[in-house]
Amino acid sequence: MGTGFAGNIIVVGVCGSIAAFKVAGWVSTLAKEEARVPVVMTDSAQKFITPLTFAALTGESVYTSMFADEHSGAMSHIELAQEASVFLIAPASAQTIARLAHGFADDLLSTAVLATRAPVIVCPAMNTRMYQHRATQDNLSRLRQLGYTVVDPESGLMACKDEGPGRLVEWESVQEVLWRSLRSLDLQGEQVLVTAGPTREPIDPARFISNRSSGKMGYALARAAYRRGADVVLVSGPSTLNCPYGVRRIMVETAAEMFEAVCREFEKATILVKSAAVSDFRPAVQHEHKVKKKNGAPALELVRNPDILYEIGRKKRKPGQLVIGFAAESENLEMEGKRKLQRKNLDMIAVNDISGSDTGFEADTNRLILLTGDETIELPLLSKSETADRIFDVLKEKFRSSPLS
Ligand code: CTP
Repeated sequence: MGTGFAGNIIVVGVCGSIAAFKVAGWVSTLAKEEARVPVVMTDSAQKFITPLTFAALTGESVYTSMFADEHSGAMSHIELAQEASVFLIAPASAQTIARLAHGFADDLLSTAVLATRAPVIVCPAMNTRMYQHRATQDNLSRLRQLGYTVVDPESGLMACKDEGPGRLVEWESVQEVLWRSLRSLDLQGEQVLVTAGPTREPIDPARFISNRSSGKMGYALARAAYRRGADVVLVSGPSTLNCPYGVRRIMVETAAEMFEAVCREFEKATILVKSAAVSDFRPAVQHEHKVKKKNGAPALELVRNPDILYEIGRKKRKPGQLVIGFAAESENLEMEGKRKLQRKNLDMIAVNDISGSDTGFEADTNRLILLTGDETIELPLLSKSETADRIFDVLKEKFRSSPLS
């Protein structure tokens, strides 16, 4: 996946927690991706991991004291604060969270955070009971009020053998929050509804009709929209993919369930992108028990599923509400796309060539033709995540020349 961190100054504040060693891995990744990663360590952080570790990983001075003058050529704490693209505090201890919540400036990290106007991301990690204590929860609420992003810890077995929330969040999630903090949030205010994956139409408890959709394109769209500041709902058919960070996912199985979820969620949506590969047909009868072979090969009668996009396209839309469809085609791409654009009353359709191995189902790349009422835009072969961004670029340019009121 593309990085996007290069050239940014990501100041990492490390506090006293056993999870500090995990952050060494994060810092190493960021440094490899050519971000500058100055590390600030609190006194107790240095009990768990040495400044030398971070200095070796980043090639930068590590900041441990407000008054130290040993960093010749290093930034002062005020420079650190001013130069930072973003502050990432991880692991954030209960003590540092309390300091920041009350605006203290009694160590280098809290002082630098007060002096910065860059986004601040706080990743708590501590014992479950410390985390759940009212005092810590109140402090975290205060940090949210101050505009800091708090990335909730995960639940699990802790180093101290307690079980519950308090484990430092995984890098995959932090990376998403970092991305969102570094890029311009040009989809802020948008409520994006994405559908993804196949549907499954049961024959009996063991068998179903489905298709080869992996959900990769839809998940990439949901992820891209979140990173660009949108509120995102993902209605997904069965897929092995993890829910993208920050996205509300609704899992469905059949076309009927997807129809129901999309109609409900469309009420609040400003943009619907319908990339799911919905089964057009379902078995007329769903057998309650497994069909046995001793009875001979059964005839499989199929009936039509609702065309969700067509039904949505027919509805009266709110001002500014956009509907974007996909078309999976193996021939006459543009002609088929235009036909579906009109018939389903869409603002845009993305035509997908499913005949190649580097495009369409299961592939990590895609080559789309985007059709609007008056324009045809051919995208080159791109990763699905770049393709997703290009779709939103075109949407912004064509339909959102002035911000949503
Ligand atoms: N779609 C839908 N509900 C269906 C079938 C399709 O909402 N029952 C949506 C898909 O999510 C996609 C678009 O319609 O955005 C086009 O899907 P596609 O399978 O390419 O087209 P169909 O409408 O099924 O047309 P055809 O069978 O003629 O190719």
